Amino acid sequence: MKNTIIDLLIERAIKARINSHSPYSKFKVGAALLGESGKIFVGTNVESSSYGLTVCAERNAIAAGIVAGEKKFNSLVVISADGVSPCGACRQVIYDVCGNIDVILVNKKGKIVNTVTAKELLPFAFSGKNLKPKKEL
Ligand code: THU
Repeated sequence: MKNTIIDLLIERAIKARINSHSPYSKFKVGAALLGESGKIFVGTNVESSSYGLTVCAERNAIAAGIVAGEKKFNSLVVISADGVSPCGACRQVIYDVCGNIDVILVNKKGKIVNTVTAKELLPFAFSGKNLKPKKEL
């Protein structure tokens, strides 16, 4: 069977998840983000003993793409044990940086459990547009 770009994203996210630094939660997450150039950027969750400093897999994948100079992004694959959906902070950053992309939620067996858009994850989103008031404050 022909491998699709989504299959490739899943494969890369599975590999990234193996490197998860999650000694506190033991909850491993991998992410793979497709850039407009065709390049794939991966992330995994990196936890801190000061829990709030933890960075999720999704935001690390986005940061990797930005660092590499990618400007536009397409699909994002997120893989975890059961295929959970991104946390609130990640939903905001996904929408801010990637716009209304498809977010594909995958379980640890590599099975797609849900495909949703960034807007579906964050209805009535706050965005950069809200930072441009009509009148000077
Ligand atoms: N986590 C992610 O990396 N992405 C998500 O979408 C949900 C949560 C991480 C943060 C933390 O390391 C662990 O999973 C448990 O919350």
